[in-house]
Amino acid sequence: MKDIITLGIESSCDETSVAVVKNGREVLSNIINSQIKIHEKYGGVVPEIASRNHVEAISDVTKEALKEANIRFEDIDNIACTYGPGLVGALLVGVSYAKALSYTLNVPLIGTNHIQGHIAANYITHKELEPPFLCMIISGGHTHLVHIKSYEEYEILGKTRDDAIGEAFDKVARVIGLGYPGGPKIDKLAKEGIPNIQLPKTHFDNLDFSFSGIKTAIINLHHKNPDINKADLCASFEENVTHILIDNVLKAAKQLNIDKIALAGGVSANTYIREKFLELEKKNNMKIYYPEPILCTDNAAMIACAGYYNYINGKCSDMYLNAIPNLKLGEKL
Ligand code: KG4
Ligand code: ZN
Repeated sequence: MKDIITLGIESSCDETSVAVVKNGREVLSNIINSQIKIHEKYGGVVPEIASRNHVEAISDVTKEALKEANIRFEDIDNIACTYGPGLVGALLVGVSYAKALSYTLNVPLIGTNHIQGHIAANYITHKELEPPFLCMIISGGHTHLVHIKSYEEYEILGKTRDDAIGEAFDKVARVIGLGYPGGPKIDKLAKEGIPNIQLPKTHFDNLDFSFSGIKTAIINLHHKNPDINKADLCASFEENVTHILIDNVLKAAKQLNIDKIALAGGVSANTYIREKFLELEKKNNMKIYYPEPILCTDNAAMIACAGYYNYINGKCSDMYLNAIPNLKLGEKL
């Protein structure tokens, strides 16, 4: 069978990324131009600035991706781009660029859901992984526990009722003075602390999540006692949220009789969360998957991989494809 070369384009937030992926799972290049340094001084992503930087970067990032993969534009078989969820102005840059390339090269355009991309990052790292499995998507914008029934069928079993987990990481880090983005900073500092601070654990009867209570509790603790040990606070926060995640994952695994669990999204790069999930392999006889760190945060290889499965299942887009900032997982193209 002829190889299928997919060009992936990701621009939903503050990373301009272009990747070349062969047959869905073999990454030939994955160039990520991060704007983190630009947004750092504002304490978060500024949408207008993000869009402008995507426009400036996208051509060069694409050329670099082709060069590293050692291919020419004519070798591309199809183009997958993120069309939601994300920042509308940022998404529009990738969608417009992908449309122009698809039209010029006369190859199919595949609008791809960003969350589907995060899930697909696992297929790149674990060549043997096939649905069905459970996926805990933990990112800056999402906290979804999903039953991956097939490459195109997703059932959301539970989601956050307030803050996404990554948002909680970032807000806690900001309040205690660690800066942006907070996730990696909390990850590092927590290693020096002891989880000895009692924090509220919010549980529901169903498989939903909530992180605003614990976030507020930490903010209040810090306000009342600015000298509180920050490392202990970070360790306690991580222990608390990991406990909530694992509790729901175990409930879902039992309900559906599934023993394959994948983690996805930026927060799945967290070393404590990974370690605690890995313990389930021995303790609960489960198989745990997570993407290599570079594929956890936003990147175009995961979009190319998810797009490839859309493509082989006949789900291509037309030139009316538009950015959908609040696109839901499983929504039709
Ligand atoms: O998936 P992602 O790159 O963007 C979204 O789609 O939202 O996730 C970004 C989030 C940020 O909240 C960031 O703080 C968090 O992932 N993050 C981490 C770590 N690395 C990134 N959170 C905890 N520990 C980490 N090591
Ligand atoms: Zn993301």
